Amino acid sequence: MKIFVAGATGAIGRPLIAQLLIKGHNVVALTRSLERARTLTAQGVEPAIADIFDADAIKTAIIGAQPEVVIEQLTALPKTYTGESMSAAAPLNQRIRLEGGANVLAAAQAAGVHRYLRQSIAFWAIPGAGLADEETPLAFDASPAVAADAHIVTEIERNLLGNPNLQGIALRYGFLYGPGTWFAPDGDVAQQVRQQQFPIVGNGEGVWSWIHIEDAAIATVTAAERGNPGIYLITDDHPLTVREWLSAYAQWLNAPPPPQISVEEALRIGGADAVYYGTQMRGAWNAKAKRELNFQPRSLEWLVESAVARAS
Ligand SMILES: NC(=O)c1ccc[n+]([C@@H]2O[C@H](COP(=O)([O-])OP(=O)(O)OC[C@H]3O[C@@H](n4cnc5c(N)ncnc54)[C@H](OP(=O)(O)O)[C@@H]3O)[C@@H](O)[C@H]2O)c1
Repeated sequence: MKIFVAGATGAIGRPLIAQLLIKGHNVVALTRSLERARTLTAQGVEPAIADIFDADAIKTAIIGAQPEVVIEQLTALPKTYTGESMSAAAPLNQRIRLEGGANVLAAAQAAGVHRYLRQSIAFWAIPGAGLADEETPLAFDASPAVAADAHIVTEIERNLLGNPNLQGIALRYGFLYGPGTWFAPDGDVAQQVRQQQFPIVGNGEGVWSWIHIEDAAIATVTAAERGNPGIYLITDDHPLTVREWLSAYAQWLNAPPPPQISVEEALRIGGADAVYYGTQMRGAWNAKAKRELNFQPRSLEWLVESAVARAS
């Protein structure tokens, strides 16, 4: 199929392009950068150079490409993962997701695209017992940044899934890890963990759902080929409490064990969002993706390798 990818050069875009090419698809990829356009060409991808906020240029690019499918993976996330850097990046990131996304969606519609997939987020379900599925309501009453993201996810998914002119698929990814992410050994969280700056908050009972970027890419390609319109949670099989994943992660990095701080201290240092992530976040259940996309995600890299190291 001919597939247009916006966000093709980011953390998830890179493995996505690789998987699309492996599956024999004809790929056109958006970038603002001439240098990245050259790299894309060398990979066998046709580059389209435009800024996502230039609605006319995006329309020209997508109408010119005449794709059957559009995949949107646009973000403007910071290289560091801290409360401050995420707050500073939030306005542009929101604008990219809402205004940028709307420009791509409008262009796709004008080009007669029949299927549109976009990145969404798995971890904003309301806190509660057990794992969340695609129907679980989102956490609109959570801490400020989480509640704001729950509203954004709702808006972008509503704009897509309510569009009568194309088949929309929202892919709610878990925490992405792998090369080029915050959680890679050379990434920002690894650095913070080595310096004991990434603590377990309170009881560490917040549950995080993970996904390797290559598994996210594989699921995305399958969804582009034969997914049903609607939402898919794209997460691995074993959501873990912060206490579990962070301890194993520190061990995997040969870092000291993570420090533990009280909820009161976390509130003082990181605010309500830090407490939410550390103690309240809810894991996601990937049964629908497994059933409909034959999704077979790998186990969390550092959990497997820590277990192998313990056994040997
Ligand atoms: N992306 C994620 O979902 C994700 C998940 C976990 C962690 N992170 C972390 O976030 C940091 C950055 O991640 P990333 O590599 O995905 O983000 P990025 O480098 O900012 O890439 C985002 C993608 O969006 C495109 N884009 C952004 N603004 C655009 C605009 N105005 N017009 C057209 N395209 C635009 C970029 O294209 P061009 O720059 O080529 O124009 C790129 O393909 C990393 O440190 C990573 O660890 C990201």
